Amino acid sequence: MGDFLLEKGNKGIFKKIFKSIGVPVPTPLNRIKENWKKNILESKKVVLGSAPGGINSSIYDAAFKELGGASQVIVSKEEKANALVYDATGIVNVADLKNMYEFFKNNVKKLNLCSRVVIVCDSVPKSIETSGLNSIEAYVEYCTVQQGIEGFSRSVAKEIGAKGATINLLRLSSAKDANDKSLLPYLHFLLSDASAFVTGQVIEASIETSPKQVVALEKSLAGKTAIVTGSARGIGEGTARRLASEGATVVILDRPGDAEAGKAVATSINGKFIGVDMSAPDAATTIIDFIKNELGGGVDIIVHNAGITRDKTIGNMDAAAWDMVISVNLNAIVSVNKALLAAGVVNENGRIISLSSTSGFAGNFGQTNYATTKAGVIGYVRSLSQTTKDKKITINAVAPGFIETAMTAKMPAMTAFFGRRLSALSQAGHPSDIANMIAFLASPGASGVSGQIIRVCGGNFLGA
Ligand code: NAI
Repeated sequence: MGDFLLEKGNKGIFKKIFKSIGVPVPTPLNRIKENWKKNILESKKVVLGSAPGGINSSIYDAAFKELGGASQVIVSKEEKANALVYDATGIVNVADLKNMYEFFKNNVKKLNLCSRVVIVCDSVPKSIETSGLNSIEAYVEYCTVQQGIEGFSRSVAKEIGAKGATINLLRLSSAKDANDKSLLPYLHFLLSDASAFVTGQVIEASIETSPKQVVALEKSLAGKTAIVTGSARGIGEGTARRLASEGATVVILDRPGDAEAGKAVATSINGKFIGVDMSAPDAATTIIDFIKNELGGGVDIIVHNAGITRDKTIGNMDAAAWDMVISVNLNAIVSVNKALLAAGVVNENGRIISLSSTSGFAGNFGQTNYATTKAGVIGYVRSLSQTTKDKKITINAVAPGFIETAMTAKMPAMTAFFGRRLSALSQAGHPSDIANMIAFLASPGASGVSGQIIRVCGGNFLGA
């Protein structure tokens, strides 16, 4: 079942009716149609602002130039901007926040529909010892304003969401060492329409492991191999198609009973199919044998997408429903990765990306089993990422909000209606939105991102 408000509310008679009764109608999002394009800023207006003492503006301009644009100052009231980029790396104390206020106050009303906003910050030091700041007071004030910037960004997300516009905060560790090359992939993704359903998020990246030379996102997966679990349909299928469209050879993995649908997807993208029940005890050995026999002994990208729900309140949940969800959504990920990493079949610079959920952040009525697994993925990713640095394997998770798939089509109509509305963008996402984030995390450009759980949820109010 589609979203009537989104599909009909912007046209003809329904537009008039909804306007007259004061029903806010969401803005249809601009999404990329297929592949990455490099010149995303061509003929776009980007306004750059910065707090004094931050990253030099020439570095941003060099990155914008790579993307086919340049920063501009908008003077006339009529002129609109397609993107705002604000460098907040110079903000170290409470008084400095005023600069951010002034930039946004002067520019936010100039944003076009479906425009992009990015704030760039340094990382938040874990302790005073590692902060490089010379007093406890300076450290405390620094941490205070950094958290403040996150609150600011999330609030702007809610204010500009009705326009279909997004804002995200990029946190770079050692931001002072950033150059145009290291910034480029992040700006490319966050300023493009590939991030149309990502808003109000904080994405952390390490400059140390970020690209040192120009890394283009387009066709950046050429020569790579990928396995996507649960990819006969839904988000997994969308992801498999997206990875293939950027050049990867993709293995469609799904339950043996779904072989027909899985093989059809595989054939359409020149990929391969493997029938595996991820909850079977021999799942890992089957996958390892396949990698050795069919993928030349190593795999570059693994997407753990297979997932199920068996909803019941905890008092009514039988052991089978509990065990099944734990087995597919969590145990399969932990045990298969453990075996793959031990067997050394994940290539250097590999990418392991798992599907979490906003339910993993917020919990959900009737989903104690599901939320346990999706929250478990969060802890898993954060901890496992610390163990794979020597092979430069990044470990991340994507947490979808409400996405239109077979899983959500089963929801009661009113639950689905409110599920869609409970976000800054006031609509559901598409499998392609998740696929785009996964394609970015899988790309060489995202080498600096590991241990992250990134929500692709349209700024979902739950667990924010
Ligand atoms: P879906 O139900 O449309 O597709 C799931 C796929 O996984 C199917 O192809 C199914 O055959 C496969 N699968 C299930 N159990 C399997 C097993 N034991 N072994 C191998 N394959 C198996 O689901 P959807 O909506 O595409 O979700 C994909 C992932 O995204 C899941 O992990 C889900 O929890 C997560 N997610 C989805 C959200 C949504 O709104 N659709 C929201 C948050 C998270």
